[in-house]
Amino acid sequence: MIYALNNTSSNINFTSNLRCVYNRSTNALKYMNTTKLFRQDLDWDGFAELLISKYKDVDKVNIYSYACSDGSEPYSLVIKLLEKSEKLKINCDKFFPIRAKDIDKKMISLASDGLLPVHKTEENILKKYPHYFIKTNLKLPENYGSDAVWKVKPLLRNKVIFQQNDITRDIYSVKPDNTVVMARNFWIYLDGDAQRNVLAKDLHTLLRKNSMLVTGNSENIIQCDVVSMLEKLGFSKTHINNVFEAPVKKQNFKWIYY
Ligand SMILES: C[S@@+](CC[C@H](N)C(=O)[O-])C[C@H]1O[C@@H](n2cnc3c(N)ncnc32)[C@H](O)[C@@H]1O
Repeated sequence: MIYALNNTSSNINFTSNLRCVYNRSTNALKYMNTTKLFRQDLDWDGFAELLISKYKDVDKVNIYSYACSDGSEPYSLVIKLLEKSEKLKINCDKFFPIRAKDIDKKMISLASDGLLPVHKTEENILKKYPHYFIKTNLKLPENYGSDAVWKVKPLLRNKVIFQQNDITRDIYSVKPDNTVVMARNFWIYLDGDAQRNVLAKDLHTLLRKNSMLVTGNSENIIQCDVVSMLEKLGFSKTHINNVFEAPVKKQNFKWIYY
């Protein structure tokens, strides 16, 4: 399993957050919190453009960012949505707040406080957005792999609601229509193909009209072939890598005779 994690392309160039969580009794790896702003396995510009055009006639879009770790992922999407809509001179409030969830209490409490662990190689990205981020003097324990802690300013922080939750339980709360579920680079931590299949089937059942699912490169490896599972269920690829349309399902009509 560790071999798989160390050799996926999405795990190269991790810089932001390298925290690992182990099972206390067995010492086995439970999960890693690795993430970063604008992680390279998603075309963030293309994705934001797709959302803006797909939902142009919709009043409210429900975006869930599951396994959000320290919030790098929902923040990346907010930044791109704001950037694109400013250029187009349109309002994008319908996309916010993004509901960001992770099983890890420490990550959620850090993110809720608006703090972001940052590696020095990543600081140049944050410096481009002085209206969103500011450097602090805070330090995190060494195992976070971060050199600095940056504060997320309210303009960005207020666009995301963080909540500690296990996706396998919380998924039943997602709205069915006009919904985007980001569930990226974490399926490998579920309990084998059996649990991955249950989650894929739940998503198939729960997502309905105009809904999408976004995975990461770690969902497209031999040891964790979630993409094949999704395609068998009818999810279809879009022109953006790792972004899928949920299948359109026929309504189950009940004929009532009087
Ligand atoms: C490798 S990080 C991925 C972070 C982010 N999605 C990305 O792609 O950059 C995996 C995250 O999944 C979270 N996670 C693991 N199992 C989970 C579960 N059952 N429900 C919600 N989050 C989970 C971990 O706490 C960790 O923060």
